[in-house]
Amino acid sequence: MTITFRTETFRDDFTFRNSPAGIRRFPFPFHEDGYMYSVNIEPHRPGAPGSVFEHGFDVDEHYVAEMADRALVLAEDPLRCQALPHMDLASWDYLELVMTTKARDYPELFTLETDGDRWHWTNRPLGIDDRFTFGVTSTLPCPPLEYIGRQTQGDHCLLDQRDNNLWMDAGMVTTQADWSLDFDIGMNFFEWHAPVPLAHEMGVFQRAIKFLTSIPQGQPSRRLNWTLTVNPRLDTSPENYPKWGPDKLTVTPDTIGEKMHLRVELQTFWRLPRSNALVFPIRCYLLRFDDLVTIPKWARRMHRVIRDLPPELVTYKGMSRYHPMLVEWLAAHDDGAPTSPGI
Ligand code: HEM
Repeated sequence: MTITFRTETFRDDFTFRNSPAGIRRFPFPFHEDGYMYSVNIEPHRPGAPGSVFEHGFDVDEHYVAEMADRALVLAEDPLRCQALPHMDLASWDYLELVMTTKARDYPELFTLETDGDRWHWTNRPLGIDDRFTFGVTSTLPCPPLEYIGRQTQGDHCLLDQRDNNLWMDAGMVTTQADWSLDFDIGMNFFEWHAPVPLAHEMGVFQRAIKFLTSIPQGQPSRRLNWTLTVNPRLDTSPENYPKWGPDKLTVTPDTIGEKMHLRVELQTFWRLPRSNALVFPIRCYLLRFDDLVTIPKWARRMHRVIRDLPPELVTYKGMSRYHPMLVEWLAAHDDGAPTSPGI
């Protein structure tokens, strides 16, 4: 498989676009004409060829540009990557998981050669060719989580497991939907989820933690989450709210198609072998509304989901200001046909 990496930006002039194939493989998240939180976790099994589920770590046409955007965020704010001292082993575990998985799934892009603990890693799209000693941080250009996080699309949380709970004790977070690693570092599963409305009362988090703390090695799981973002901006962090908050004021009926993006997170959960930590990669996919409505079944379902979204979720997902305008715009793209369950 050959991937043509796009030259594009996720800030300033926002030249990000999906190719026609990129639109078709977008992980549209709604399997019915409504949405409410649930424990929507399923096995992370290999999916259809060409889909975002084909491989454990999807690499797509945005890879090189996303890594360039990450480098800009880290240059401005090094605290987007943090690891508490006891997470060193988990960081090496994660580096190993990514390198072995990517080298197996994309041999034309990545190569890993190992001789005991002497490793040789080649990342052709990013022009990286490094030899290092596994487990010895001084042999890498930077600590292991930062090293592999700079080469892997999506954010990455490393969760220590103790007291039947998960603790956000390390992470690389530069493409997040309005939450902060620097704020959440050291928190447990219930603490970092505290701002989420309704889900606590529904028992979603109590059930989820039982599942997550039992995930065995070699049997990863996944779920999808979603929100909306004005402009194809990856870094919608609280730290940078002054940069992207005012974008909401630019939403008008004439700009919705171009500016509004469905932002879907493919979240996966993997048990790590030596540390028994859990890693939680959060892979972000963006789809412009003008592109979304080219697929009629997505257009009509998006309208119905947004129209009927519980008010608590409208507020939490930050769309209060333009929600009525959005419903009206989407209604014009809903042909009224019935939809069937499934995507
Ligand atoms: C939101 C992290 C697993 C359900 C969030 C937020 C964070 C987060 C940081 C933002 C909270 C805020 O507003 O500050 C994680 C991590 C997980 C994890 C690190 C891995 C252990 C799960 C699971 C579920 C879940 C398994 C449900 C089954 C949710 C929901 C939201 C949320 C419903 C609100 C999202 C929205 O409406 O956009 N999560 N989460 N999370 N999380 Fe998780």
